[in-house]
Formats: sequence, structure tokens, C-alpha cells
Amino acid sequence: MSHRDFLAIPDFTTAELHALFALAERMRAGAYDRRPLAGKSLAMIFMKASTRTRVSFEVGTWQLGGHALFLSPKDVQLGRGEPIADTARVLSRYVDGIMIRTYKHTEVQELAEHASIPVINGLTDLLHPCQILADVLTMRQHLGPELRDKVVAWVGDGNNMANSWVNAAWRLGFELRLACPAGYEPNAELLARARETTRVSVVRDPAEAVAGAHVVNTDVWASMGQEAEQDERQRVFANYIVDAGLMSRARPDAIFMHCLPAHRGEEVSADVIDGPQSRVWDEAENRLHIQKAIMAVLIGGESL
Ligand code: CP
Ligand code: NVA
Repeated sequence: MSHRDFLAIPDFTTAELHALFALAERMRAGAYDRRPLAGKSLAMIFMKASTRTRVSFEVGTWQLGGHALFLSPKDVQLGRGEPIADTARVLSRYVDGIMIRTYKHTEVQELAEHASIPVINGLTDLLHPCQILADVLTMRQHLGPELRDKVVAWVGDGNNMANSWVNAAWRLGFELRLACPAGYEPNAELLARARETTRVSVVRDPAEAVAGAHVVNTDVWASMGQEAEQDERQRVFANYIVDAGLMSRARPDAIFMHCLPAHRGEEVSADVIDGPQSRVWDEAENRLHIQKAIMAVLIGGESL
């Protein structure tokens, strides 16, 4: 059976991404009343913690007429060492799609390779594509649908979020400036590929990245799985904090985004994340809308 996965933003063409945003916007506006997942089930595998991803996928599946199963390593045999390939084959006999959050990106690729149903990446150590599509949807919501004339600044770790911003820049053509400490840059191959179509720079100084930007974006200093590096990372990232002074270097109408969970007083000050330029709650809500659009297309047969 042929099926389509969503493991990384470039799995959709540029035209498909724009159509996906338009579909998500119809859903957000309440102008979509189909139930393309009626009679269908989504298995959700979480090898890491989650609030937003779990709730938005589960509620989104239900809103589209389907049913979602939460599978944690404490309860399923994957957590006791059952091979990913076997898990993929078995789940393919029961459900109609799999969402997975785990550590190694190669594990998600292996799951997709052995599943005969769509697989959606709910975060790996390498990428967080659903989040960045929600972030771009938030850009469209607050800055308008034209993306190519926008400048997005990233401040902090060159992590899964940063890598997915690089992929989004490649497909969507906005300028991306990332301020990262030495040794914490985004994936070199993804950077090289994005630079074929758009401007992507990596600098050390957050002020340089943020100057005149439309969007200022950051994330935690230590991601899930990096807890043992917390002390070292607090030293390395001490100057990578988005505060009012840094925000004042961006455009006056710039928006602040953060995928959450956030650490106020570390990567972002409370007055910024709780202030007038912050769009983090719309950003979190947009997870629901974009993931419903993704599921409607991949699992529900909705056309783009
Ligand atoms: N932003 C995000 O993915 O949040 P959760 O870890 O709560 O799912
Ligand atoms: N970079 C963070 C994102 C959490 C949503 C992590 O991987 O933990």
C-alpha cells in the first residue's frame, strides 16, 4: 500500500506547504466541517515527555472524527526492546497512522520504512517539523501570508527546532539568521542545502541576528535527553537570552515565539514571553490546526 510520511518539512513541496497552511487556516476559522478520520485510529508513540504534542494530536484526531491511542515506553513492548521494525509492522495492521516522538531521527525513518501507513514526526533529536509549521502559521497569522520578504532570527542552541527552521527557510524562502555559540550550530548538511535557495547565516552575536528581524525565536538551552549537560550549557548559553534589550533591536512590530516549555530567566525573560510582542499562545494553538491539516491530508485523503 502506498503511503506518505511527514518526517521533515521538505517532505512537502513549497506549493503543498502553502496549501497546507491555507487548509489549517480554514480549520482555525471553523470553515472546515469534514471528518476525514472517521473510523480511523492514530497510534501516538511518546518516548519523551509532551504536553502540547500529545494533547493537540489527540484532540485533533478526535475533531476530525478519529480516535488516538497514547503509547508510552512504560506500557508498550517497544520500551522493553521490541524492534522498531516489528512495532511498525504490527501497528500497521491495527491503525491508520503513527505519530512518534523519540530520540534518534533514524528510528523514525526506520519506523516509516517498515510501516505501511503514514508516519508523522512529533520530534526527534534532529527535527521538530510539526512545531515549525505551526510557527510559520503563526508568522502568517500576525505578519501576513508573504514569507519571502521576512527575516527570522533564532537565538540559542542549533537544535531540532533550529534545524527545522533551516528546512523551512529552504522551502519557503525567508531569510534566517541564527545566533549560536561555537560548537552548537545547526546541522551542516541542512544548512548547506538551505543556502541553495535562500539566505541563512550563522553568527555568534544574538544582537547581530536579531537586528531588524520580523520574528525572534528561541528555545531551551538543554533539550530533552541533554539533562546531564545542563550545568555546562548554562555557562555556554549565558549570553543567549532574549530580553527586552535584545527585542528592541528587532523591528518595532516584531513577534516573539517559543515552542514551549520555556524557562523564564534562562533563554527568555519573563517580560518578553509574557509581554505584548509574544505570540506563544497562538503558536501553541496553531499546533492543533496544522497537525489536523497534516493528518487530514496524509491519513484522511484530503487533497492539497
Ligand atoms: N512544543 C512542544 O512540542 O511541546 P511539548 O513537548 O509539550 O509537546
Ligand atoms: N528542543 C526542545 C523542544 C521541546 C519541544 C527539546 O527537544 O526538548
